[in-house]
Amino acid sequence: FNVPVPTNEPIYSYAPGTKERALLKNALAEARSKQIDIPMYIGNAEVTTNKKVAIRPPHDHQHILGYFNYGDKSHVEKAIEAALAAKKDWENLAWEHRAAIFLKAADLVAGKYRYELNAATMLGQSKNAFQAEIDAACELIDFLRFNVSYMEEIYKQQPPVSPRGVWNRLEQRPLEGFIFALTPFNFTAIAGNLPTSCAMMGNVVVWKPADTQVYAANVLMKIFKEAGVPDGVINLIYADGPEVGEVVFNHPDFAGIHFTGSTPVFQHIWKTIGTNIHKYKSYPRIVGETGGKDFILVHASADYKAAATGIVRGAFEYQGQKCSAASRAYIPKSLWPQMKEMMLADIATFKMGPTEDFANFVNAVIDEKSFKKLAKYLDQAKNDADAEIICGGNYDQSKGYFIEPTIIVASQPKYTTMCEELFGPVLTIYVYDDKDFEKTLKLVDETSIYALTGAIFAQDRYAIEQASVALRNAAGNFYINDKCTGAVVGQQPFGGARGSGTNDKAGSMINLLRWVSPRTIKESF
Ligand code: NAD
Ligand code: ALA
Repeated sequence: FNVPVPTNEPIYSYAPGTKERALLKNALAEARSKQIDIPMYIGNAEVTTNKKVAIRPPHDHQHILGYFNYGDKSHVEKAIEAALAAKKDWENLAWEHRAAIFLKAADLVAGKYRYELNAATMLGQSKNAFQAEIDAACELIDFLRFNVSYMEEIYKQQPPVSPRGVWNRLEQRPLEGFIFALTPFNFTAIAGNLPTSCAMMGNVVVWKPADTQVYAANVLMKIFKEAGVPDGVINLIYADGPEVGEVVFNHPDFAGIHFTGSTPVFQHIWKTIGTNIHKYKSYPRIVGETGGKDFILVHASADYKAAATGIVRGAFEYQGQKCSAASRAYIPKSLWPQMKEMMLADIATFKMGPTEDFANFVNAVIDEKSFKKLAKYLDQAKNDADAEIICGGNYDQSKGYFIEPTIIVASQPKYTTMCEELFGPVLTIYVYDDKDFEKTLKLVDETSIYALTGAIFAQDRYAIEQASVALRNAAGNFYINDKCTGAVVGQQPFGGARGSGTNDKAGSMINLLRWVSPRTIKESF
């Protein structure tokens, strides 16, 4: 049999007057009207503790949406035990039953839970309705449906040759032990994808989301349970990252990590795993998608209007808090005056404020820590001779963590904000001499310590070819005449190399293959 052929989930626009907008507004009002108590989910238990952590919308930090129950090392241990106890039944379940569970989860996201999950993402992570829709609804649904189809392909792949008297076979075994899924605050789809892609392949999982993502993670867990994920297969815990790590990375049954988050945290985790390598039964699979400092390079032959729009959208969607966000741009002198005018005019139309007002394009950054970090960079730029702020630069945390969309023009191509990941609505531009295109290509490559996404805007085919070759290793997702955000599952498998991760392409067969350990069988007759 074949699983249903996946297609990308259509995006709701939430335009004024639509039924969808009314339903989403209802879900937002409903979430605001109550305070929920979010348990951890360990085995068949919903676990509460004495340590309650308040959840507040980043754009309205005086409001409390609810509390989550913070765990400690004992909860991590219990989660591992529950996962290992569930392992045998889960891995012996025929894969089509696992497929059915995750296809049902996709349908629940697409239907019954769409508005609740979008509302949780809008309130908990301060995404506007459209950004929530393309993340928590469409990308997550696509991850689930496409992964199920890749799963079928993987299970059906067999060695092509079995001479007479021999039957060669390949058996895809789940990993021996449990998988640890660690998810970042910025995408609900990633929170949904990381534990499910491992579980789909017959593995059991301990999942810890970022504290600032727990509100949406709780809705995801309800969906997984309702879809039929058995108790113990995915265990959801909240606790201090390093404390969780201490238990997980010392456990002999630790079989792999599915991580998305910052580069320093991943490097720390990798070192810890290396130090403990002798403690594990198998070499753990280490899959990590990490930071980015993504570029858009404009050539003098570019359609400058398309380039200006691409840069602004790529930089400021979701307040620049996408690993793929355009945070640096290189623009030729000949196009700079007209592009500057267009970009400033575009940004002037952006409204900033809470997510519940659908007119706001820019919402708050995730938390006080991020707000303070960004404010510091802006203050520094205000005082730096090498930097000129041409729009934005202001910030205000009286009601929520608001940072104005900011453009810094750097006179030095290696200025701090051209090189470091800020993770906020701050774009830095370097204007280069048109004749220095080749020099600029070298510069982009050598400053790409991260290598996640990048884009070239050009009409000249030779320039496109030159950039594609020179920047071959500077981006795992390379765009020609498009912004560098918005990869679609099934169309542009996503991930980067260098400091941006192990490039195991989320939402692809490459990724799912990391969660199985094949056994080759030769039978002679
Ligand atoms: P983060 O690294 O701070 O946290 C990620 C997860 O790791 C969280 O669950 C956190 O609690 C946990 N953690 C932190 N320290 C830990 C430790 N010592 N041991 C174990 N766990 C620990 O990341 P974030 O701020 O939530 O997310 C933003 C980052 O994620 C950015 O750098 C962004 O570029 C990156 N990101 C990358 C991709 C990608 O596909 N490459 C996608 C989304 C986000
Ligand atoms: N997949 C997301 C994007 O491409 C991160 O923007």
